Amino acid sequence: MTQSPTPARVLIADDEDGLRWVLEKGLRQAGYEVTAVRDGDEALRAFSDAPFDLVFLDIRMPGTDGLTVLAKLRALAGDAHVIVMTAHGTMETAIQAMQRGAYDYLAKPFDLDEVLLLAERALAAGRLTQEVARLKTGLQEVWEFGALIGRHPRMQEVYKTIGRIAASDVTVLLRGESGTGKELVARAIHHYSRRAGRPFVAVSSAAIPGTLLESELFGHERGAFTDAKERKLGKLELAHGGTLFLDEIGDMPPELQTKLLRALQERTIERVGGQESLRIDVRVLAATNRDLETMMREGRFREDLFYRLNVVTVTLPPLRERRRDVPLLVEHLLAKYATELGERGVAPEALDRLVGHDWPGNVRELENVVQRAMVMATSGVILPEHLPIGPVSAAASVAIDATLEEIIERKLLECVRGLREHASANLYDLMVGLVEKPLLRAVLRETGGNQVRAAQILGINRNTLRKKLTEHGIEPDSIEG
Ligand SMILES: Nc1ncnc2c1ncn2[C@@H]1O[C@H](COP(=O)(O)OP(=O)(O)OP(=O)(O)O)[C@@H](O)[C@H]1O
Ligand SMILES: [Mg+2]
Repeated sequence: MTQSPTPARVLIADDEDGLRWVLEKGLRQAGYEVTAVRDGDEALRAFSDAPFDLVFLDIRMPGTDGLTVLAKLRALAGDAHVIVMTAHGTMETAIQAMQRGAYDYLAKPFDLDEVLLLAERALAAGRLTQEVARLKTGLQEVWEFGALIGRHPRMQEVYKTIGRIAASDVTVLLRGESGTGKELVARAIHHYSRRAGRPFVAVSSAAIPGTLLESELFGHERGAFTDAKERKLGKLELAHGGTLFLDEIGDMPPELQTKLLRALQERTIERVGGQESLRIDVRVLAATNRDLETMMREGRFREDLFYRLNVVTVTLPPLRERRRDVPLLVEHLLAKYATELGERGVAPEALDRLVGHDWPGNVRELENVVQRAMVMATSGVILPEHLPIGPVSAAASVAIDATLEEIIERKLLECVRGLREHASANLYDLMVGLVEKPLLRAVLRETGGNQVRAAQILGINRNTLRKKLTEHGIEPDSIEG
């Protein structure tokens, strides 16, 4: 998702001159476009002139009180975030404000850093809400979500899920083959969450042997074991306030699974060799390319841990199941490495091969292949010989045409829109016929009118072909090769 190029518009409404001035100055220095007013009525006037992205609203002001102003602002522009400012001892009001749709509240006195962090998060959340709204209405095709590339419907599903779950603290299990982007998605979830300004800490169970993994996760006290010369903080502790990414969770040894589950349930940890119980506040995202269901049946993965982690599942599709995204990814990768490796183009035959390859290593493999080809293509254009992959099989090359499906879909959408009025039409047969007729003609043209060959290529029997030709009024003999 791209950040809006214009600075966000922030409105401050507070009757206290000093505070208003400090806020105004600080937010302006941080790059926001700031307007400051003294009371609720002025705030409402300013807002109806032109809406703001974010409002800092004092609750106790002369004239219309803050809560009423809040309600009116929300009615004027439901998607503007309002941060309510309250003096100590007015928590009640703060809670009421939250219930009435304020994004957050600040208890006075507060420091500027706190304000700036909150502003940043509120605006990020705002952008996310807009993105989700856009995805929901489907008005605009979204094919890029931050660093994630892909416009295949299965990727759009992934983006929608990220949008729905990012803001909450729900635990997510990311599944998918190696190299499909699980870590990238985990980072996206963190980025669009309220924890964005806090640490994102990744631990891979596959990369660290079991014995070390425990102290990696939980930390250890000095002297806890022979090599423990110093106290070491664990990843769970380091992720406090932020997000912990448990990569390759299927590779975690069973004893550690038990310990992890307990820590997640009790939200406390003890360092190895330590007595003290430490409270931790982390959001957990876990990933695996293993078949956890089988592992559970075989007793190698704890069922209760599985259910604890698998509150929401995001499954990343393998690249071969979203081939039409390959050209987009290639374009992205060429741009990504252009400064380092030089500007490169791709010859159509080379692109065909890339689209047709099966990609067992998914996007990571594609990335390696493209990088390598960029190095080899000293003439500036990547050719098939720069690729360590063979030509595409005939069947695959038809099935995978990256653009055909889209062209057809776009055309059909136009037709369907036109037909919507006469809803009774036999739309299905009409549309299938619309595709079938030109297909039959194309194949016959290619075979020079030879029905035996045509039936073979189409994978239907000759009688069926003959019947369909009659249905569509196609004269095979009249078709020129
Ligand atoms: N949709 C995508 N758009 C752009 N780049 C992607 C996408 N998916 C994956 N990548 C890139 O591919 C590489 C592998 O992605 P990532 O590490 O997230 O995969 P993974 O699923 O965690 O793999 P593994 O299971 O092997 O750890 C990274 O360089 C990442 O940037
Ligand atoms: Mg990974």
